Amino acid sequence: MSSPDGISCTSPGGIWLAVAPLAAEAMAHRLADFEALVRSAREAKARAHAPYSQFHVGSAVLAGGQTFIGCNVENASYGATLCAERNAIASAVAAGYRRLDVVAVSTSAPVAASIDQRSPCGVCRQVISEFADEGTLVLLDAGDGEDGRIRGEILAFDSLLPWRFRLG
Ligand code: THU
Repeated sequence: MSSPDGISCTSPGGIWLAVAPLAAEAMAHRLADFEALVRSAREAKARAHAPYSQFHVGSAVLAGGQTFIGCNVENASYGATLCAERNAIASAVAAGYRRLDVVAVSTSAPVAASIDQRSPCGVCRQVISEFADEGTLVLLDAGDGEDGRIRGEILAFDSLLPWRFRLG
């Protein structure tokens, strides 16, 4: 997959690609939150239980002004594996928050990995959609640049799952 189109925006600790149709200016006042969320997702990733795939994933979701984290938890019965995003979302819902503002995802994919190796799986997209609205953003950690600043993409959740299923 090629890189998405977007406009880059910078914060003291990060360089972000606001993927079209997001307006970079609209993101400006939120960049500090984004840095903190990526750091929380990375902390969760460090606790992933992934002995089978060796692919570590951490997620941090911002809901009701609070951050909830999750990591992937694999199982010897592979199908019982839980994804990081869904664990983070379950935590937010259990705490009483059902509207997702931002979903950040950090994986152990190499820094140069393309966006499709770092974005939420289809099942997680459907679960995000249960608690998302047109303002929900997805933040994909792309690792640190040589300057030590975080690199990441910011996407509107809608662009990841257009025409999503809703029970009428
Ligand atoms: N995984 C996640 O945690 N989230 C995703 O969106 C994609 C996949 C996990 C599941 C499994 O433990 C590992 O990554 C490899 O698929």
